[in-house]
Amino acid sequence: MQRIAALTSGGDAPGMNAALRAVAKVAAAGNIDVIGVEQGYEGLVDGRFVDLTVRAGPDRVRSTRQVDAAGGLGGTILGSSRSERFLHAEHRRSAAEGLRAAGVDGLVVVGGNGSAAGASVFAELFPVVVVPASIDNDIGCTRYALGVDTALNTIVDACDRISDTARAHKRVFIVEVMGRQSGYLAMSSAVAAAADAMLIPERHRTESELLDSVEGVVRTSFERDRDKRRVLIIKAEGVPYPTTRLTRDVAARVAEDLPDVEVRATVLGHLVRGGSPTFRDRMIAGRLGLAAVSALVEGASDEMIAWEPAIEGGIPTRDPSVQRFPLAHVLADTEALLDGSSPVTQRRVKMTEAIEGVLAL
Ligand code: F6P
Repeated sequence: MQRIAALTSGGDAPGMNAALRAVAKVAAAGNIDVIGVEQGYEGLVDGRFVDLTVRAGPDRVRSTRQVDAAGGLGGTILGSSRSERFLHAEHRRSAAEGLRAAGVDGLVVVGGNGSAAGASVFAELFPVVVVPASIDNDIGCTRYALGVDTALNTIVDACDRISDTARAHKRVFIVEVMGRQSGYLAMSSAVAAAADAMLIPERHRTESELLDSVEGVVRTSFERDRDKRRVLIIKAEGVPYPTTRLTRDVAARVAEDLPDVEVRATVLGHLVRGGSPTFRDRMIAGRLGLAAVSALVEGASDEMIAWEPAIEGGIPTRDPSVQRFPLAHVLADTEALLDGSSPVTQRRVKMTEAIEGVLAL
């Protein structure tokens, strides 16, 4: 292994830069050059490379000052994309030829489940391993993906701030958080922010059921305890009930007999995806990056590096918290995670149902 390429792909996540730094430093320590690929798979097709290490002699190579300094930054210094072109075999072949022409022997892809699917197909042409990064925590086999911890801290901080103003005016706030198909951010932040309810797509509730549920929480909160000053509902964006319409509908339901209660909405959107990665995201990024380089050096390919997997079938590494899984296994587990058949999803849904009554206390 003489030279490794690394790219970031899909929705960016805090911790991506920490993973790039880890790959560059670990590889450099092994006298391996590292180049970055700009703009994810789009840049791979076009051969847009930048150095992440510099070589000062036949056995002296170090990570660049830029990647060293980037570990604490959100986003990705390489840029990212969602590439349509990479879906086509001729562009993937061109990408593989470009890597070989640049003397690259292995590729590290830092990204989410769409990026893992692309890597799984690309592995037919070129050695590739994946480091999971997605604030949604919607990737199979790994307990955590990069960005989740930072996103959760951002959401909890935002909910604390919203609760300050909600209490000042005795308001209900419906806060929408990211999570295209997974309600993990909503369910986890709801517990930490002591929300009064959480709305997640995994429970597959109808609009009528959702509206009744939120109305019930508002009534339970304000009718039973006149001193309660705030109701906080955290809703995953994947719940198919537009937040502005839900807000309006809840307000209409309670207007008559709770005239002093206002219902408002805040959509956190991409705020949830930015910010400096937390210790936990940086620590996980470093250990996953180390394992990714080690896997390529050992000749592995078509695998994802997983953090504290909750399922069997992983290949152990020197790090007791890190295992490697074939990408086919990751993709199958991701599908189960998102369609609800996974025991992980079922456990999460059961947990939310169990604490629903408690949340509103
Ligand atoms: O996949 C992560 C994610 O942040 C989702 O939670 C969100 O729905 C999506 O990306 C937004 O994608 P984009 O940044 O392309 O609008």
